[in-house]
Amino acid sequence: MSSYSISEYPNVDEVYVKINKLMSQPPVNMPKAVLEEYIKKIETNCARSKVMTTEAQQYIPGGVQHNLAFNHPFPIVFNKADGAYLYDIDGNRYIDFIQAGGPTVLGSNPAVVREKCIELLNTCGPSTGLFHEYELKIAKLICDNIPSVDMFRMLNSGSESVIAAVRTARVITGKTKIIKVGGAYHGWMDQMVYGIRIPGSGRFESHGIPRAYTSHTQEVYPNDLGQLERTLMFNKVRGGTAAVILEPLGPESGTYPAQKSYNKGVRELCDKYGALMIFDEVVTAFRVGMSGAQGYFDVKPDLTVFGKVVAGGYPSAGGLGGKREYMEYLSAGLGGAKKKQSKVGGTMAANPLSCVAGYYTLLEIQKQDACVKAGRAGDRLNKGLLSILERYNLPFVAYNQGSICHLESAGTLFVKINYLKILSVMKEIKVRKQLMEEMGAAYMAEGLVTVAGNRIYTSMADTDEVIDDALDRFDRVFSKMKR
Ligand SMILES: Cc1ncc(COP(=O)(O)O)c(C=O)c1O
Repeated sequence: MSSYSISEYPNVDEVYVKINKLMSQPPVNMPKAVLEEYIKKIETNCARSKVMTTEAQQYIPGGVQHNLAFNHPFPIVFNKADGAYLYDIDGNRYIDFIQAGGPTVLGSNPAVVREKCIELLNTCGPSTGLFHEYELKIAKLICDNIPSVDMFRMLNSGSESVIAAVRTARVITGKTKIIKVGGAYHGWMDQMVYGIRIPGSGRFESHGIPRAYTSHTQEVYPNDLGQLERTLMFNKVRGGTAAVILEPLGPESGTYPAQKSYNKGVRELCDKYGALMIFDEVVTAFRVGMSGAQGYFDVKPDLTVFGKVVAGGYPSAGGLGGKREYMEYLSAGLGGAKKKQSKVGGTMAANPLSCVAGYYTLLEIQKQDACVKAGRAGDRLNKGLLSILERYNLPFVAYNQGSICHLESAGTLFVKINYLKILSVMKEIKVRKQLMEEMGAAYMAEGLVTVAGNRIYTSMADTDEVIDDALDRFDRVFSKMKR
């Protein structure tokens, strides 16, 4: 029997009403004096981080190698992670709500996984380029747990696994069009940098990407099955649709939450129009539950994209799974099982270190019922946040889908794209983005590391004590906001 991180699915209509209300009024700013006080605190407490990341600006574009590390007023340098906590090089402790961007459902750096990795490094090293027994072990474990997956190809990242899925869908169907849900992030590959973060944004962020590369990618508005059907119908008379790709909880890990019935609706439309359904479970697989979000929604996609938890926070986290008859198109080498081949690979794909880390992470998640524990931590946090927001009469929006918690204060991703008023749209995005960064800085100064100031991943390590401590810290920030 499967158990899931989501104990109760959010009332999506209610969430959108609250978001519309948030967006219908000017952003709630942090008072200048409060922000200055927080910045001063960070400058004082994180002096070594400042020196290091200032130097990094000379050598690393933007000063950091990872988008999520862009913190206002400067990135903090972390050198220790343990369970629910992160520690910076100045010795400050933080509650870790970034969880490496999602992979560490067990909490950071769990000993059970680490020890197995060290054992492997002491014997085999991280890679040989040849078959290792853990390739089989992790593939079997995934196939045993994810209902739609008979076979699994392990890859290096979510981004490349999305491209593997798209290519495979095209080989299988012989069609080219890919429909995605606007706002969803499916990685940074050329064809997918289309309609990202904000629905309707099309090629807004496709800098350096020739039009031809995105010309077969289309977007539809979140939860709009009517528009999806019209697009599928339109494509039908123009060569058909290879696949519809979606994040099961909604774009940007549920920032635009999907209606609970949406995935089933998409499944029906894909069947009706002969398109494959691809679930991007980079965030959700083994976080929502051992059988993924597809188990929770009771929907069987044709192809599933994996990432993050699949390597438990260790390097090279990606993969593609699906029905045997589809996955056989990936058979490598000339004379494979099918005439046509979907060519994917990678020197470091399925290296023993990723496989061992992933295998023991998944086993431990299963053994500890970690998705459920992380989800209950998310529930407790969300409940507490709602009550704090109510107490201070703040229009911010909090809701959670198990261990994925959303806390919208600025609503940056909800700015409506209007190409006729593009300058004012850009200005509004800029203002709201800055507010989001300031909120992130305030949380950081209070010892809370969040995902970009508007998302929180909880883990099994978040005990009631950790969550209650976090709530006190959020309370301190919200008590200072100007209404
Ligand atoms: C839903 C989703 N798909 C794909 C990706 C890309 O994965 P990666 O960063 O491993 O390339 C991400 C990354 O955050 C994601 O959230």
